[in-house]
Amino acid sequence: MLPYTTIHVEASRSYDIHIGRGILSQIGGFLRPLLGECRVAVLTDSTVDDLYGERLIETLGAAGYTADKFVVPAGEASKCADNLLEFLNFMADCKLTRSDAVIAFGGGVVGDMAGLSAALYLRGVKYVQIPTTLLAAVDSSVGGKTAIDIPAGKNLVGAFYQPALVCCDTELMDTLAPEVYRDGCAEVIKYGVILDKNLYDKLQQPPFDRESVVARCVEIKRDVVQQDEFDNGVRGLLNFGHTFGHAIEKMSRFGVSHGSAVAKGMVIAARMAPLCGRGNVAEELSALLAGYGFDLSCPYSADDLFDAILSDKKRRGGNITVVLPEAVGHCVLVGLTVEELHDKLKQILG
Ligand code: GLY
Repeated sequence: MLPYTTIHVEASRSYDIHIGRGILSQIGGFLRPLLGECRVAVLTDSTVDDLYGERLIETLGAAGYTADKFVVPAGEASKCADNLLEFLNFMADCKLTRSDAVIAFGGGVVGDMAGLSAALYLRGVKYVQIPTTLLAAVDSSVGGKTAIDIPAGKNLVGAFYQPALVCCDTELMDTLAPEVYRDGCAEVIKYGVILDKNLYDKLQQPPFDRESVVARCVEIKRDVVQQDEFDNGVRGLLNFGHTFGHAIEKMSRFGVSHGSAVAKGMVIAARMAPLCGRGNVAEELSALLAGYGFDLSCPYSADDLFDAILSDKKRRGGNITVVLPEAVGHCVLVGLTVEELHDKLKQILG
């Protein structure tokens, strides 16, 4: 057995998250007590499939699982209703029953769509997350948010549906393109700013130790999800940088990646904080993000960003909740009227 860390999540469905280098080879041993004998439908993307698809199917086969694989093109455009329906039809063609399961093998796109498929198929089958990107490992594979995008916006159709298991083999991240790995670093830095100054300090000298940092981020996310699984309060802290980041992603038609957009968004939020009577960490946060190679400029005007934010699903009536730092390791949720938000954005972006 290879060494690994286990983090347990107590939510509407409780589950373990195993984190370790090389542990994909042990997936059979993790699955057996949870799934017993069953068929599995694997959803993956073209990049992950080329690198690791065969290895996963062979490993599952050796553990006694009949696995059928459905591959979507890599990229956010795949997280759409057409692919969701095709995958659901695929599951039906494979004659999956309620005692069978779905495996998400990839990054956030695959994880979100596989999770939603599992929630919908036969009104719910088990699913397992095997994240292959840093971003999916520290964020999207944990906490049960599942979704697809529709033309009106990202993640607008989805469900809260917790996985049965998360198996995070950090070795799979060795082959990530540097810019894809960096995307995950934005989310890692986010955890430091919102809730953990020690983690933030550890990140000052990249590269960080992957296993321990992923485990710490997952622990932070677990603690937040356990307090507010359905995102009515404290879970909103995980959106630090995301209100602005999603708007930037959307306006760029996803030309700006999620992590890069979140990095820009975190800087905008940090600059907004002192304008709302909160702390000022903008300079030090910008320096840290720049050290990881993020371009922190915002290519859009305050008016454009504001319009894009107004269509975001996080808006409630005439108010928007933004996450603002008081200090490194301590963020707060602040409600602003849309007029206040527009005014602050104009002060920041002109
Ligand atoms: N990615 C934010 C959340 O899971 O709530």
